[in-house]
Amino acid sequence: MDAHFSRVANLYTDVRRTDRGPVDFIRDVLDGAGRITGTDIGCGSGRYSALLLECLEGLFLTCADANQSMLDELTRSFNDIHIERFKTVHARVEDLDLEDGSLDCVFSFNAVHHFDFPVFTTTMRDCLKPGGHGFVYTRTPEMNSQTIWGRYFPGFLEKETRLYHRAQMETWFEEVGGLELIAIEQFPYPRQCGIDELLWQARNHHYSTFSLFSDDEFKNSLTVFEDSLRRHFTNPSAIAWFDENIMLHLRRLDA
Ligand SMILES: C[S@@+](CC[C@H](N)C(=O)[O-])C[C@H]1O[C@@H](n2cnc3c(N)ncnc32)[C@H](O)[C@@H]1O
Repeated sequence: MDAHFSRVANLYTDVRRTDRGPVDFIRDVLDGAGRITGTDIGCGSGRYSALLLECLEGLFLTCADANQSMLDELTRSFNDIHIERFKTVHARVEDLDLEDGSLDCVFSFNAVHHFDFPVFTTTMRDCLKPGGHGFVYTRTPEMNSQTIWGRYFPGFLEKETRLYHRAQMETWFEEVGGLELIAIEQFPYPRQCGIDELLWQARNHHYSTFSLFSDDEFKNSLTVFEDSLRRHFTNPSAIAWFDENIMLHLRRLDA
């Protein structure tokens, strides 16, 4: 998977759709918090880290990722737009060395399905200050099956076995102790775009799921995907569907 993220790093921010909803939700929760320290684990090329820094003026962010090319891309783009309140850490969450009780917030966007989730929950609990917040933005297998890829791209659901069920994540957070699950917010998104954009996204492996296909499997599935879309949608310039994600909001209990 590391090779996949190295390959897509320089295109990643362009090829993925970035939604403001989860960041607006975080901004509202942290409203008036003043100076805060946080980490974005699995930050990738930094599209959500950048939005967090834009919305939270008092935030200093440690951007952590297992892939150096993603972090290089993040640093390059942050330097271009003069974002300074960050540092990068090249580490897997399983090896991440964060001081106990040192942070106000832990964020993770679209990344927890790559992690050993129980290790991630322990890391979150240990590095948060009492009262600190955890925000986990992800999609479940059920949500994945509603995407345009889940519905029309043969093999997409069978290959993507890494996503966690909501109940399983809730149980892991309960089991680790010391964290309270405050809310699970749903973020539904009506989507619409042209077939060419969808084919471009798939060819550029905008979801890492595509890197789990062999070249031949991918080619065949892409052909069937395009045929199915042309049959199901009368206007190939306006293909419509719903995406959905959830945000788990947690709070570190007093020690
Ligand atoms: C799907 S991308 C999401 C990136 C970013 N959060 C976003 O939404 O654009 C997942 C990221 O998690 C990173 N990653 C994968 N496994 C990881 C691990 N065990 N620890 C930390 N980061 C990891 C990958 O390198 C990749 O950058």
